[in-house]
Amino acid sequence: MTIAEIKSLFEADISNCASLAELQELKVKYLGKSGLLTSLLKSIKNLPAQERPTFGAKVNELRNEMESRFADKAVLLKSSEMQRRLQEERVDISLTDCPSRGALHPVTLIENRIGELMTALGFEVLSGPEIETDYYNFEALNIPYDHPARDMQDTFYITDSILLRTQTSAMQARVMEHRKPPLKILCPGKVFRSDSDASHSPVFHQIEGLVVDKNITLCDLKGTLEYIAAHLFGPQTKVRFRPSFFPFTEPSVEVDLTCSNCGGTGCSLCKGTGWIEVLGAGMVNPFVLENCGIDSKKYSGYAFGIGVERVAMIKYGIPDIRLFYENDQRFLKQFAK
Ligand code: DAH
Repeated sequence: MTIAEIKSLFEADISNCASLAELQELKVKYLGKSGLLTSLLKSIKNLPAQERPTFGAKVNELRNEMESRFADKAVLLKSSEMQRRLQEERVDISLTDCPSRGALHPVTLIENRIGELMTALGFEVLSGPEIETDYYNFEALNIPYDHPARDMQDTFYITDSILLRTQTSAMQARVMEHRKPPLKILCPGKVFRSDSDASHSPVFHQIEGLVVDKNITLCDLKGTLEYIAAHLFGPQTKVRFRPSFFPFTEPSVEVDLTCSNCGGTGCSLCKGTGWIEVLGAGMVNPFVLENCGIDSKKYSGYAFGIGVERVAMIKYGIPDIRLFYENDQRFLKQFAK
């Protein structure tokens, strides 16, 4: 090839070159060890001696030109490559519809808070089955088949002996059968009853507490509940026991707290009484202890069952239990911190 031929080929090649990788290939094609121009320079020895200086000068001139054209083209290609990437990888930082942050459900907030308070006292958190046997839900808790106390809870039966647990108390016998005192446990979970209105839901949440040890008294129960009440509703909150009846506790109590809305002076929330009923509790019936193989002469215990929705309704001023399950964002967003 002549100098002129190489030059015109180079012109065509460089103007068609569209990427830095191609440009690199062209450099090798022309200026590489066995490149077109390099080979031309090597052929100089075949020329008559007097022609060599002019020929050499011409080849060098072309080489210099090529080098500067390569450099110019590289700058051009780099900048168009950058333009292409800027266009392709464009991020619109003005977009505002980012996903909003979630928040814990008020029932979870209360469950977590009570869990925190109780584990600080050394309680262990356990969970049990929602589909339960009649035995653990009723029999073992001193509620035999024909006992009128079964009417207190409208049960969803699956078969004659299997049901959806109506109370987390079902965990009491399950735990006491396998573990011996000292026991200090907390069992949060869902419970089910065929009941539905502004203050009852077919599924709701309870937290069962159970303590069994030597010398446990009703005072231990009261102290524990006062501690929870003070931390949930403020230090001025008082706890009141009223006599009640549950087959699995003896004595049994209904537990009231001073109304967090009016502070005890009487308002519509507490129906003018100054007190709000929040849970059932009592001393574990010796029958239940013996049933689980625990010596009721040596050991005593207390138990309580807290309605989680009930506590959340009082704490947050929620008038209807159904609001918890409708998943209305306007309701739920209020609990986002
Ligand atoms: N299980 C009872 C209910 O659902 C609440 C309850 C009362 C739980 C007394 C207890 C207790 O552990 O001692 O109505």
